[in-house]
Amino acid sequence: MRKTTKMIVGVVAALAISAGGVMAAGHLNKIGERQEAMKAVGGGIKVLVGMAKGEIDFDAAKVKKAALTIKANLNASKTMFPDGTGPDSGKKTRAMDEIWLDTEGFQSALKTAISAADGMAGVTKKAELMPALGKLGGSCKSCHEKFRAPKK
Ligand code: HEC
Repeated sequence: MRKTTKMIVGVVAALAISAGGVMAAGHLNKIGERQEAMKAVGGGIKVLVGMAKGEIDFDAAKVKKAALTIKANLNASKTMFPDGTGPDSGKKTRAMDEIWLDTEGFQSALKTAISAADGMAGVTKKAELMPALGKLGGSCKSCHEKFRAPKK
């Protein structure tokens, strides 16, 4: 009887350990998720920059699609920076400690970018593209400057 109890305890303990392991991994998966989200954001901005440069014909529907892709992925990024996923996580990430030292500043930089993406989604004329892109691009840059480490 004692032996069985011990075995059960052992099995439960092992489960708890593996559950912990899964949790930690899920946690660190956020790093890959946010990098994918940011890549999608980068893909959207590429279309907009191409249009601003005249390499792609102006098309309000395409502008809107790119802007909404950017907005959705920035929105999703809000919860993709949980504690423990910074530079000390042992994973490849350019997220800086500053994100967790100034969470409010980081979230507010996200909000600014999201509202700039909203502005972009409302662009219907070519003349409106550049000013909207200036705002949106500026919002990426100011967050990256403060919260993203340079490429290694
Ligand atoms: C609130 C902060 C913030 C805003 C706003 C922001 N980014 Fe980022 N971005 C980051 C951080 C932090 C990383 C690094 C993530 C990591 O490596 O874990 C990143 C990474 C990236 C990457 C590299 C993804 C990869 O790993 O390959 C691209 C591309 C990118 N951002 C584009 C943009 C563009 C374009 C905008 C504006 C439309 C933007 N970002 C807005 C914080 C931000």
